[in-house]
Amino acid sequence: MQENDPLRATDDPSPGLPRHVAIIMDGNGRWAQERGLPRFAGHKAGVEAVRAVVEQCVKLEIRVLTLFAFSSENWKRPAKEVSLLMDLFMMALNREVKRLRRNNVRLRIIGDHSAFAEKLQHKIREAEATTAACDGLILQVAANYGGRWDLTRAVQKIAALAASGELDPAEITEESISAELSTAGLPDPDLFIRTGGEQRLSNFLLWQSAYAELYLTPTLWPDFNQAAFAEALREFAGRQRRFGRTTEQVQAAERAADE
Ligand code: IPE
Ligand code: IPE
Ligand code: MG
Repeated sequence: MQENDPLRATDDPSPGLPRHVAIIMDGNGRWAQERGLPRFAGHKAGVEAVRAVVEQCVKLEIRVLTLFAFSSENWKRPAKEVSLLMDLFMMALNREVKRLRRNNVRLRIIGDHSAFAEKLQHKIREAEATTAACDGLILQVAANYGGRWDLTRAVQKIAALAASGELDPAEITEESISAELSTAGLPDPDLFIRTGGEQRLSNFLLWQSAYAELYLTPTLWPDFNQAAFAEALREFAGRQRRFGRTTEQVQAAERAADE
C-alpha cells in the first residue's frame, strides 16, 4: 500500500467500534426524483457513496461490512430498472475490484447468484477470486439476497444431513445453523444501518441481526457521506449492549475488565 493512499489502514483502531456493520442502502430513487433525474441517476450516485463508506471502514479497520444492494424482492421492480441495476453491478465490479485488492479488501457476493446472467455470474466469481487472498476488510455485497432465502437454504442443507443419517437432529444448535448461512464464519452485525427513512428490515440478515444495534436515518443513501457514517459510529459507541443482562451487571463486567 502506498503512503498517501486514502484507503491506508491506520495503526490505531478506536475502541467502541463495531466489528461488523450491515447497511440497507435505501433512498436512491427518491434522491434522484428530488433532483428531477431518473431513478437510475440515484443508483449511480449510490455507487459513489459505497466507495466512501468502504474507504472509511478500511481506515478504521472494521472487520466486516455487508451492503444490501439488491433484495430477493427487487425483481418486482420495472424490468428496465432491474436491467439497469444489473448493468451497474457489472460496471461497478469491473471498475472497483483492482482498487479493492490494492487496499487489501476481500469481496464476497452473498445471495442467490443463479438468477443472474451467466456473464455476471462469471464476473462475480472472478472478482471474488481476485480478492480472495486479501485479509483486510471483508466486504460482503448482498445481491439477490433475502434473509428468508438464507435461512431456507440453511434448513435444506441441515435437513439433507439429517435425512442421510449424518446428523442427529438433537445436535442442531444455534452455532450449527449460523454455520450454514451465507455469512458463515463471520461475526454477526453489531451495527445495522438503514438510510432513506424507512423503519423496517426488508428481509435483510434476519437471523444474524438478532442483537444488532439499529441506526435508522432519514438521510438518503447517495447523501450518506463520511460525516454521516461517523455520526452512526459515534452513536453506536455510546450505546450500552446488554444482551439480556441488567445495566448493573454490564457495568460490573466493564469494571472487572478494566482492572
Ligand atoms: C435502494 O434505493 C436501492 C435498491 C433497492 C436497489 P431505492 O431504489 O429503493 O430508493 P427509493 O427507496 O425508491 O428512494
Ligand atoms: C431494500 O430496499 C433493499 C435494498 C436496499 C437493496 P427497498 O427499497 O427494496 O425496500 P422496501 O421494498 O421499501 O422495503
Ligand atoms: Mg427503497
